Amino acid sequence: MTDIRLPGDKSIAHRLLILGALADGESRLRNMPSSLDVGRTLAGLRSLGADIEGGTDGELMIRGPVRWTSPSETVDCGNSGTSARLLTGLLAGLGLEAELTGDASLRRRPMDRVVYPLQAMGAHLSYVDRPDRLPLRTSRRASGGLRSLRYRPRVSSAQVRGALLLAAVTSRTDLEILDRGRPRDHTERLLAAMGAPVTVRRSDTGESVRLEAAGWSGPLQPFDVAIPGDISSAAFLIVARLLAGSRASVVDVGLNPSRAGFLAVLRQMDARVRSEVRETRAGEPVGNLTVEADALSPFEFGEEIVPGLVDEIPALVALASRVEGVSVVRGAAELRLKESDRIDLLVRNLHAVGVDCEELPDGLTIHGTRVPLRGAVRTGGDHRIAMAFGVLAAQPGNEITVDDSSCVEVSFPGFWNALEQSMAERKAG
Ligand code: S3P
Repeated sequence: MTDIRLPGDKSIAHRLLILGALADGESRLRNMPSSLDVGRTLAGLRSLGADIEGGTDGELMIRGPVRWTSPSETVDCGNSGTSARLLTGLLAGLGLEAELTGDASLRRRPMDRVVYPLQAMGAHLSYVDRPDRLPLRTSRRASGGLRSLRYRPRVSSAQVRGALLLAAVTSRTDLEILDRGRPRDHTERLLAAMGAPVTVRRSDTGESVRLEAAGWSGPLQPFDVAIPGDISSAAFLIVARLLAGSRASVVDVGLNPSRAGFLAVLRQMDARVRSEVRETRAGEPVGNLTVEADALSPFEFGEEIVPGLVDEIPALVALASRVEGVSVVRGAAELRLKESDRIDLLVRNLHAVGVDCEELPDGLTIHGTRVPLRGAVRTGGDHRIAMAFGVLAAQPGNEITVDDSSCVEVSFPGFWNALEQSMAERKAG
């Protein structure tokens, strides 16, 4: 069985692009994902004056530090919430004049979560049409930098943390974030690896992140790094192989503990999961992963684990639909604010293919079945809904159509080929 090797992690790629532009020297990024979302961050940075050689496929060079300029055109973040939130933080820290927007899905998603704390730091941000939604404008500050902030976010979000850390590091301002949860911590790790004075303390009640940037004059060190494979993309192929009764072996994949919720749930389902960290790159643990199972049990999880697997819930729901018994997702109301209302679309599509399930305000229950699944899936343009049901459609015996296969391009352009290859190997083996 061939090993699964994935394009670089999207969350890490967005951040390395931005941080490379802030670094003092030339940075090299290898294994860049060709995802459209990462392309949005890249294009946004170029429009702000960043000198970046290469594209989002393979290798790329960034020459920092950038001589930032206000972009002449609106920065279009497309479908990418991470681009929108992180670039808002960057622009707020730099005090540049710009307008940010996105596609119809992104213009429905909340922005107050980053705008409110950035305004509390003294950033000049305003909405163009309606509160809490893109498009938004950032404007120059008449004088001075940002104010320090001690902040308890209402939602545990890596995009919020990332935006605030970028604003604080560019404006050399102190920041403390007191978080109830543990969202992915890539910004913190990468900043620390580049020499920024950032610390993270964990306790039973959550995490506190501190950046002591006021008075810090050190440079951000440039880097030369191969981005670890994307565990969120791997999740769909792992589920495909488990459903096909075969083993998944993933090499050179990101094994950051703040992204490990998916693996914890697989263990809860009685899968055998082995992960081995082989090295640390730019502060990120990277290694190999194998997953196999004989019989799987249903799962039940809630709020405490959700930030660590929020993007993997559609993949887990697809798996649960084929595991006898009732699986339960709770504490995941954030899913309603993703590229689509994912709770609503998961429930509708499970019903459409013949799986019993119930919608909850903050999750869903899934009554797994071994009966062949048949029906038409509507993705609502959401890449993770397309991939979750694409995995079910690929299983022999099921007859499922997915109305929009191209939406996977925002995160995993090679998905359909990778899935087909996984399934073909199974036939061959
Ligand atoms: C991301 C954070 C998560 C995740 C998204 C990527 C990031 O969103 O769902 O796909 O790279 O920071 P939240 O920060 O809203 O949880």
